[in-house]
Amino acid sequence: MRRGPSAALLAGVFLLAGPARAADAPPGASSCTGCHAAQPVANSVIPRLAGRPADEIVRIMGEYRSGAWASSIMGRIAKGFDEAQIAAIAAWFANQPK
Ligand code: HEC
Repeated sequence: MRRGPSAALLAGVFLLAGPARAADAPPGASSCTGCHAAQPVANSVIPRLAGRPADEIVRIMGEYRSGAWASSIMGRIAKGFDEAQIAAIAAWFANQPK
């Protein structure tokens, strides 16, 4: 009977995608983590991005950039990155532990 991936395989996937990859942050990601901390911050008003789906981050950044989504600061920040940079940063955040 097949019951899906083994625990060992899942552990391997977790290790590959997990905290060890923080060192592989793409250019620009460190400018986000100054505010969107990699670790949870108690009572922070800044939304967490770690573990969020990449396509959601890409979509929101597009809306900030176009002004479709009003913001205090993110509109200006979003304009400083091109689509490839946003995609790389979003994929990296999606891979970070929640
Ligand atoms: C100066 C602090 C600051 C920096 C730097 C910053 N952000 Fe933000 N971000 C915020 C704040 C504050 C909000 C809440 C919305 C607002 O007021 O603009 C936000 C909201 C967001 C949201 C929406 C989350 C949600 O659930 O509503 C996304 C996505 C986001 N930021 C992505 C990024 C990315 C990607 C970067 C790096 C390129 C970045 N931010 C850099 C402060 C920052």
